[in-house]
Amino acid sequence: MQVYRVGGAVRDRLLERPISEIDWVVVGATAEQMRELGYRPVGADFPVFLHPHTGEEYALARTERKSGRGYGGFTFYASPDVSLEDDLIRRDLTINAMAEDDHGTVIDPHGGQRDLAARLLRHVSPAFAEDPLRVLRVARFAARYAPLGFTVAPETLALMRQLSESGELDALTPERSWKEISRALLEPRPDVFIQVLRDCGALKVLLPEIDALFGVPQPAAHHPEIDTGVHVLSVLRQCAEHHQPLTVRWACLLHDVGKGLTAEADWPRHIAHEQRGLRLIRAINERSKAPKDCQELALLVGEYHTHGHRALELKASTLLELLQHFDVYRRPQRFEEFIAACEMDARGRLGLEQRDYPQADYLRGAMQAARAVAVQPLLEQGFKGSQLGEALKLERLKALKAYKKTLEM
Ligand code: CTP
Repeated sequence: MQVYRVGGAVRDRLLERPISEIDWVVVGATAEQMRELGYRPVGADFPVFLHPHTGEEYALARTERKSGRGYGGFTFYASPDVSLEDDLIRRDLTINAMAEDDHGTVIDPHGGQRDLAARLLRHVSPAFAEDPLRVLRVARFAARYAPLGFTVAPETLALMRQLSESGELDALTPERSWKEISRALLEPRPDVFIQVLRDCGALKVLLPEIDALFGVPQPAAHHPEIDTGVHVLSVLRQCAEHHQPLTVRWACLLHDVGKGLTAEADWPRHIAHEQRGLRLIRAINERSKAPKDCQELALLVGEYHTHGHRALELKASTLLELLQHFDVYRRPQRFEEFIAACEMDARGRLGLEQRDYPQADYLRGAMQAARAVAVQPLLEQGFKGSQLGEALKLERLKALKAYKKTLEM
């Protein structure tokens, strides 16, 4: 039996990038032999094993044939007569379809090294279509390697378009899609992920609410870039430049979906888009099965981002309502993420990327002022239950008024 490094480990070594995990392919062995050698099978009928000591994945060389629609419909054929070449040809991209033996010799039957040099994400063969998730994977790799100059090969984009238009993407489970979406949003160019999905028609299927934002104008005075879709891409780019966490990136992606609902006659203004977008954000959240913290922040940012931008003009009582609503007493971190999302939104505008966002420190200061109000003195004065709640609110309002006053002086 022969063992080779494959996939991402070979690709990233050749790109001189850090290798996150090593995948291995085993040629000329049976599942039985693997078990006898102490490898632990990953699943009952999946020819993948974990190394007894390193825990790395060892897959038997296999061919995959599609037997039905969607992800459930795979059958695997793994046997000692499947060659390394048979295995490599069913992989997604040429740069992912290289293997490396013990001596460091690269086995590259599909021009992976040529495409690494040409900075091209190119599919290996028509077998690409066996797994529609690959449409998202290619967009994710584009988001990761765009800073190195990688683009999607035109013929691959055409195949991705065919897959998107054929309805195959509908069969993806939300879990598999979310894994790709969340990883892609955390890459250095999350905007490229969305752009590639749009270019191949997949955005219309996966996130039609975001797709609908392209071509929707906003007032040039606030948004020199005008197009709402372009604005969202810029906001995502800011998120990456400022190393924002996934929650903030997800919230930023969804924050303006309400603008897609504005009647054309009302363009370029989008009155009450924050409220109107909530229904869409809720629907996207549910459909994508995003984790709770992402869902929650997306709804809060959708509803209150304009409050963030107008922070300095808000009355003390409105500021208090905002802080209460965010429950900054127990969840200060979530409010920090809200502030970050507002700042990314403001910076994601053409020519305004470097402009100061004084609202951020102002909101932070307000949160501190409200949080600094102590409960103990009120308890000592005998307040209890709902009366205690009211008294606390009153004290916090006083603190916010004082905070505003000191800043005005
Ligand atoms: N692969 C594939 N099609 C998929 C998933 C995986 O062809 N839908 C193949 C590719 O050859 C890939 C390898 O399996 O390189 C390992 O997959 P995975 O670990 O998901 O990706 P990596 O390429 O290692 O990339 P990453 O750095 O994102 O983990």
